[in-house]
This record gives sequence, structure tokens and C-alpha cells, in this order.
Amino acid sequence: MLWTGRFTKELAKETNDFNSSISFDSRMYEEDIKGSIAHATMLGATGIIEQSEADKITAELESILEDIKCGKLDIDTNAEDIHTFVEGELTKRLGDTGKRLHTARSRNDQVALDIRLYLKKEIDDISGKIKALITVLCDKAEENKYTVMPGYTHLQRAQPITFAHHLMAYTAMLLRDLERLEGAKGRMNYLPLGSGALAGTTYSVDRQLTASLLGFDGVTQNSLDGVSDRDFCIELASALSIIMVHLSRFCEEIIMWCSWEFKFVELDDAFSTGSSIMPQKKNPDIAELVRGKSGRVFGDLTTLLTVMKGIPLAYNKDMQEDKEAIFDAFDTVKICLNAFTPMIETMTVLKNNMRLAAAKGFINATDCADYLVGKGVPFRDAYKATGELVKLCIDKGLTLETLPLDEYKKVCALFDEGVYTAINLDNCTFNRTSEGGSSPESVNKQIAFAKEKINN
Ligand code: ARG
Repeated sequence: MLWTGRFTKELAKETNDFNSSISFDSRMYEEDIKGSIAHATMLGATGIIEQSEADKITAELESILEDIKCGKLDIDTNAEDIHTFVEGELTKRLGDTGKRLHTARSRNDQVALDIRLYLKKEIDDISGKIKALITVLCDKAEENKYTVMPGYTHLQRAQPITFAHHLMAYTAMLLRDLERLEGAKGRMNYLPLGSGALAGTTYSVDRQLTASLLGFDGVTQNSLDGVSDRDFCIELASALSIIMVHLSRFCEEIIMWCSWEFKFVELDDAFSTGSSIMPQKKNPDIAELVRGKSGRVFGDLTTLLTVMKGIPLAYNKDMQEDKEAIFDAFDTVKICLNAFTPMIETMTVLKNNMRLAAAKGFINATDCADYLVGKGVPFRDAYKATGELVKLCIDKGLTLETLPLDEYKKVCALFDEGVYTAINLDNCTFNRTSEGGSSPESVNKQIAFAKEKINN
């Protein structure tokens, strides 16, 4: 117990369990110890404690870290939190010297430091996984630059695109996700230590030194804000939620594409499941689970917003609730990416089925209208004429490709043989050479752009 002196009784067992955060904050042991090492180094360098004592503290903290890592020292689950445990262990080993570590520090600025250090590491981890997914998508896109598929709006066949172009749309989203994570990391990269409990400290601490020892860009500017800011948790949960929106939309498409109605892709057996009763079933459970887990992450964001919205400055115990939410959000996105990326990597693209679907549904009607525009017809008139042709085809059970030229000419005399080239599926798809369009050249540029972004 850290607050002996003022109290005459131990905390009730039930209250201790309720109050304790060690079951979920022990994962920050390394950050807590490294933060303490930097703090002790600063205390020694500034003469706030004797250099010899600072040296003993840092050496012993190193060995505590080593002992936890190699399993020699178990974290005591009865301790109030990881900060209490580490300080208690240090004092057990060093006696009075250990008791000097907490000079010019409060658990309030300590915990604010630990979460930042921990989350910075998590951001790098998630970013690495997103980059791996982007690499897989670029490789798949490379293989499918000429794979024609229907593009949809309202889930109705709209215009033909390539599968590569479709994949690169997700890459564009993931690149923004990376930027959001980096942006949040930059904004949280300031040292809160030195804020004390709330008001700063009367000791002549060197916060800049501690900041540089721990790799921060600088120090927080206001001690009240330093201990009570959890914007970075909210911002990260929001960035993670957006990642889950993207993965969830992608999963929804995979699930549709796996259905017999589409059959655009086939998932590898290692990433699908069967039914306990229906022998024919091959279910896209992994994709469904990722889609479902998005709900958890949105819940974590809502938790953080709700926890923070009504608490007065500065630290309040409510804020201990930040960790389970933000840790769960990171854990969930990580396990989703771990399953999602290899699922995409190993799936088979049924190119022929995609192409057959694109050949139906008058998907080249816009190109037919554009052909007339090329002959000088205003677009609105060309649109109307093409609409009449589509109706004619439906009535006769034909397609724009099989409708005879004289029928075309009856609707507009400007039609000639060239229309069949203009509405050819490949031409409609590959000629969309506008920047960001679905042509192979445009997709090449998109792939090059993505690769450059993730490699620097
Ligand atoms: N376990 C606490 C948390 O996670 C640490 C800070 C405790 N500070 C305090 N004044 N009770 O927020």
C-alpha cells in the first residue's frame, strides 16, 4: 500500500480488487520501468538525489526488468497497479534508496507517461501490420490489372473496372489510416512526467532531459493537462475504429464474393470453416468475425469518450478505465489484421466469373453514350438515345454487343460499326485512363504511389 500514514485500516478485500488495475496494467511493466530509469537518471543528473543512489536505482530497475522478462520475478496480482508493484519491489531490494525514486513524481504523471510509451510501441506494431496488408494488396493488384469485373453503385452493375482497381481503393483507405496513426503519434509525443500530481513540482527537475532520454519531441506545456489528457487514447481509438470500418467493408465484399450468387473469389481452406450439419458449406467465418469485431472497437471508442466527457480537472480515478478500452481496441485490430492479411493473400480470384458478370447488365451503356458524344451529340441527348437502345435490347432479349447496327441507326443515324469497338468490355475498362481511373496505367501509378508511401 502506498498511502500508509494517514490510514488506520487496510483496504477491504473487495475494494482492493475493485480499485486495483494490475490485472490489466501489468502489460506496461517495461514502459513503467524504463520511465522510472529515465526519471532516476534525471534525479541524479540534477542533484535532486545523490548520483550514487540514482545509479543504484537504475541498475536495480534494470535487473527487475530482466527478472520479469525471464520469468524469475512474478508480478504480484495483489498489488494495486504496476507502478506500485515496481516501486515496492525496488524498495524490497534497495531499502531506503528505493524509496527515493518517487521524488518529484506522482502516479498521475507516471501513468500518463506509461500509457504514452506503451501506445507508441503499439502504433508502430499496427502500422507494420497495415503496411504488410498494403504490400499484399499491391501484389494482388499487380496480378489483376487486366481482370475485368463489374463496378457497382447501389449494388447494381454500373461500369466495368478491374479487380486491381478495386483492391487499390482499399489501399488508399489504408494509407490514410497509416497517416492518422502517425498524426496521433506526433501529437502525443510529449513527456507528461514533471507534471507531478497536478500542479508541477518545486524540485528543479530537468524535464527536457527526461524527454530526450525517452525519445519524446518535447514536454507537455501545462501540468493539469499533462496528467488529465487522454485525447490521444480517444484519437487512437477513433483511428482504429476507422481501420475497422475499412476492414469491415472489405469483409462484407469478400462474404458476398464467396456466395454462389457472385463466386468472384474462393477463400483458401485454411481461412474458411465448414458447417456442423450441411456438408456442402464453406463459410467465410474469418471475414464475418472481422466484420463483427468492428463493433468491439467502436464500443471502446464510445467507452473512452463517455469516461472522459464529465470529469473535472485534473486526474480522477475514472481515468483508470482508459486502459482496458484502448488496449482492447489495439488487441482487436491486431488479431483482425493477423487473420485478414493471409486470408487475402491466399484467396483465389475467379477471374472468369468476374468477367462474365461484367459482360451482363448493360455495363457499357455509358460508353455507348460517350461514343455518340464523340460524334458531336450533346451528352444528355446521347444518354437518352442509349436509354432507348437498352430498352430495345431488353424487349428483344439482346445485349448492346449483339444488337444489329440497323437497330442502332433507327435510334440515331450517327451510329456506325465503330460503336462495337467503343462498347467492347476491355476497351470500356482499360480506356479509363484519367488520373485515378481503372486503366492498367492508372493502377500502375497507384501501386507505385502506395509502395513509395510505405517504404519511407
Ligand atoms: N492505476 C491508476 C490509473 O491507472 C494509476 C494512477 C493512480 N493515481 C491516483 N491518484 N490514484 O489511472
